[in-house]
Amino acid sequence: MTDTPRVRVLFDEATIARRIEELARAVAAAETKDLLVVAVLKGSFMFAADLIRALHRAGLSPQVEFIHLSSYRAGTRSTGKVEILRDVESEVRDRDVLLIDDILESGRTAVFAKDLLMARGARRVLTAVLLEKPGKRAVEIKADFVGFTCPDVFVVGYGMDVAHSFRQLPFVGVVAHGDEEPDLFGGI
Ligand code: IMP
Ligand code: MG
Repeated sequence: MTDTPRVRVLFDEATIARRIEELARAVAAAETKDLLVVAVLKGSFMFAADLIRALHRAGLSPQVEFIHLSSYRAGTRSTGKVEILRDVESEVRDRDVLLIDDILESGRTAVFAKDLLMARGARRVLTAVLLEKPGKRAVEIKADFVGFTCPDVFVVGYGMDVAHSFRQLPFVGVVAHGDEEPDLFGGI
């Protein structure tokens, strides 16, 4: 037995896997050239790993890079400041870039990364996010590829954390309160 709090499932493994195949086909249809995937750490690592393999199945041969960005948060709310904790190593000039992030909320993280890569001479920066929270944008950005629209709740799992926990879950969910129905939970 562990004392792990239960997590109510919002998007289960099979649903995520199906949607990722669709996203990969949509990326393939965008006819990218010299494609460089840039996954935004940490939250997107699981989504990126699955999407990159789906891109391979869709016939693409992207190179893969990582950028570690921190959007400062007070508790679960974004404060607006974005900082680079680890930068990409590859040249992005004249390349098509697919930026992969876990969730588009205020949009500040995605805008920061997109502006940075465009300033370095990327030919085109497309963005893929697993989740989008509508009505939360503080800056103007529309993701090119969106997995799911997410309700306005703080989600965890499938790479996403609260206070460094829950990234290991293979599904996306919401940390449950003690009085919720047990059949809504994903086995933990
Ligand atoms: P934005 O810069 O406000 O768009 O926020 C994007 C980043 O905030 C994401 O990459 C996540 O790391 C984090 N984030 C926003 N909402 C959630 C959530 O519900 N759960 C976990 N992380 C979140
Ligand atoms: Mg993040």
